[in-house]
This record gives sequence, structure tokens and C-alpha cells, in this order.
Amino acid sequence: MDASDIQSDLSDVLYTADQIQNRLNELAAEIEADYAGRDLLLVGVLNGAIMVMADLSRSLKRHCEMDWMAISSYGSGTQSSGVVRILKDLNTDLSGRHVLVVEDIVDTGLTLAYLIQNLKSRNPASIGVMAMFRKPEALRSPVEVKYIGYDLPNEFVVGYGLDYAGRYRNLRDLGTLAPHVYS
Ligand code: XMP
Ligand code: MG
Repeated sequence: MDASDIQSDLSDVLYTADQIQNRLNELAAEIEADYAGRDLLLVGVLNGAIMVMADLSRSLKRHCEMDWMAISSYGSGTQSSGVVRILKDLNTDLSGRHVLVVEDIVDTGLTLAYLIQNLKSRNPASIGVMAMFRKPEALRSPVEVKYIGYDLPNEFVVGYGLDYAGRYRNLRDLGTLAPHVYS
């Protein structure tokens, strides 16, 4: 693999950085209206959500706080199991807070379902979820994602915070990997 050229490893660009930012501006306006008059705590899920957190938070024309959790889901290969380990917990006490979880992608929704259950036990005033991307499988998940960037086909995607074997997170666009990367 040529470590110097990320773009040539993609077979398709699904969403460009500009499209992603335009969609985030729309979602930020919705979030501003929905949370008017209330303090807002954005909770980012590391590592995937770093880009969407940075861009969404700066699209907001209002104050917000940010905190982070790192979780790892036990599973075989690329399939998530819903059994989640907390690698880094929040620094913030959630009681009485209006929490908006910021996710990169919801696939099966199992990771998110665990996370929401865990955060609810900390007595926040409210919990909402924003995910930049959603795959079709997530539509069958019990967790409601109020703010969705884009729905995706059921393919493995990289870029905009999402990785393959630790790489591609720093790609500005979202795309699918070319077959030569796997072989
Ligand atoms: P579930 O299935 O629990 O999974 O909703 C959520 C987490 O799995 C990762 N994931 C992906 N990562 N490309 C990636 O780079 C993908 O296509 C993909 N689908 C799921 C991601 O970390 C997400 O938070
Ligand atoms: Mg994630």
C-alpha cells in the first residue's frame, strides 16, 4: 500500500467534504432550534466521531460543552456484538444535563443501544443522538437517532473519522475502499 496517497485507495467517493459540511449546517440549525433555551452537552464517541464533533460543534452558533467517551465493542471481525467495554469514561456528571450523543456511524445500532442505556442510568435531563451516517441495518435497531446526516448503502466505508485497520480517518471525504486495498 502506498502510504502517501489515500485518495487512490478509494473505489468511490460517496460524500464529499463539502456535502458533509452542508448537511451538518442543516442539522446544526435543527439542533439550535430544538435545544433553544437549554444548556447542551455534546458527547462524542471516540475515535470515529472526532471529525463530526469538530465540524458539528463549530457549525453551532450557540454555546455547547463537549465531552468524550471511548468504547470498544467485542465482536468477531467487522460485525458488532453489542457487548461494549468502556475504555475512557466521561469527565462530566450527567445528572440534569441535556445530552446529545455524537456518533460517526450507526450500523447495527447495538453499540449505541448499550451506550444509551448506560448514559440513561446517570439521570440526564434528556438524551438525543446525532449520527453522521446510518446503514440500513440500523433501521431495525431499537435506538432512535433523531439527527441523521446521510443514509448509506450496506458497504464498508472509510474517511471522515472512519477507519480501516486504523487508517483513512484523516480522509476528508467518505468513500468505499478499492479491492486492491484488501488483497
Ligand atoms: P454498530 O453495528 O454497533 O457499530 O452500530 C457501530 C460502530 O462500528 C463501526 N462501523 C464502521 N466503521 N466503516 C467503519 O470504518 C464502516 O462501514 C462501519 N460500520 C460500523 C463504527 O465504529 C461504529 O461506531
Ligand atoms: Mg463509532
